[in-house]
Amino acid sequence: MRMEKSEKNGSGLLYERVASELASLIELGTFRVGEKIPSVRQMSRRFDVSINTVMQAYALLEDRRLVEARPQSGYYVKARIPEILTAELCEKTVNSPAKVTISELCGQVIKNMMNHDLLPLANAIPHPKHLPVEKLSRMLASESRRFSEQSISYEMTSGIERLRVQIAKRSLMAGISASPDEILVTSGCVEAVVLALRAICRSGDTIAVESPFYFNFLQMIGEMGLKALEIPSTPREGISLEALQYAIEQNPVKACLLIPNFSNPLGSMMPAERKRELAELLAKHEIPLIEDDIYGDLAFGNERPVAVKSFDRKGLVVYCSSFSKTLAPGYRVGWTIAGRFQPEIERLKTMVNLATSSPPQLALAEFLANGGYDHHLRTIRRIYAGNISQMADAVASSFPEGTCMSRPSGSFILWVEMPPACSAIELYNEAVMHGISIAPGPIFSLADKYRNHIRLSSALWDDEVKRGVVKLGELARGLLKRQAA
Ligand SMILES: Cc1ncc(COP(=O)(O)O)c(C=O)c1O
Repeated sequence: MRMEKSEKNGSGLLYERVASELASLIELGTFRVGEKIPSVRQMSRRFDVSINTVMQAYALLEDRRLVEARPQSGYYVKARIPEILTAELCEKTVNSPAKVTISELCGQVIKNMMNHDLLPLANAIPHPKHLPVEKLSRMLASESRRFSEQSISYEMTSGIERLRVQIAKRSLMAGISASPDEILVTSGCVEAVVLALRAICRSGDTIAVESPFYFNFLQMIGEMGLKALEIPSTPREGISLEALQYAIEQNPVKACLLIPNFSNPLGSMMPAERKRELAELLAKHEIPLIEDDIYGDLAFGNERPVAVKSFDRKGLVVYCSSFSKTLAPGYRVGWTIAGRFQPEIERLKTMVNLATSSPPQLALAEFLANGGYDHHLRTIRRIYAGNISQMADAVASSFPEGTCMSRPSGSFILWVEMPPACSAIELYNEAVMHGISIAPGPIFSLADKYRNHIRLSSALWDDEVKRGVVKLGELARGLLKRQAA
């Protein structure tokens, strides 16, 4: 009935268009659950349609359970938070499982990582439950008051001195002797790595990386017009130095980009002796190393592993890290100790964003000085050691026979190798349909590898996560059965 009365235009009924515009704004989060949507009168003016058309549009949204009318008040976005995503809702809220390139797949995986409706097994991100949220928030407020002018002003490009002093002190734990002046604060570890690549490389250069390797860096290398040379690595010791030496002799390797402590995704840790050999090998060939040590503080044992930078005698190692895995990913505070490349990196940083945001630097400086960082680290290391072990047990008992996995001694990431017939991408697609996000192996290489591998995060371990892992195992077994049939 309503439709017959509706105004029409070329592309369908007008009230449907109004409804669909509002529905997509709700879907996109412009209007959130519990929020009032514009009044009928406002919408009628905005779309230049009659009041009656808007009323019809709102009735349609009510039918679809997107909004509800509240007497004397207006229309409000309705809550719809399902415990577990139904397949129908998944289709709408997650990205399509159509055939995609690795770069598109990375985009999908990252989007699904941020989708709070999915169980976050893909996310190599600490859960706020294990972060000192209260203390940091208090320090953010108190330090911004204490240094009110500094907190609101542009900082020097190198970063706030109090923070650099604290970082210099802590660097000793990784075997690095550095003065505060040798430290450059960045907006996260990724910015440090990007600046290092820019300072060292030009388009067309070859960068040696370990394989499998953190997908974001692989994508970045491609975007910058560089070539990634993937060197085999083992879950126990990381990059094969023999393979790296061979690669250096056969290729014009401009730089290496490695994660020697608890690499992402293998979780491998290079023994100190291998790190020394690596530093010597690269020094001999005058090849810079960009060392990402973001997970170094998350070692399960009592000893924090040293960095390759501690063996650097020529200023060739650009050490990069951040507080994203230990304290506050959202603060976006990292740093680099860049050796001979420091002046160029500082110049580039000045051009790109002048300086890193001041308030988070102030809060982190205070936390490192007086917040009990060591105590916090001891706590999360114990938690992550327990999480990894419980997740490994759950994978071992739920996944198909023939599945094996890494046994990292730090961080919270598990690398799982399933039987060859078990497609990681198919499992990823099915997992998403069941409300679970995982990171499929193929995104960790540009060379069409790791088709039967997945990366799981145990940053959070509880009954729901455990059920999620059991479900994944069930899906993987189902995939294998269908393959065999
Ligand atoms: C190896 C590695 N480096 C860097 C990052 C991101 O660092 P940030 O958030 O400090 O930019 C990640 C996040 O997953 C990572 O795994």
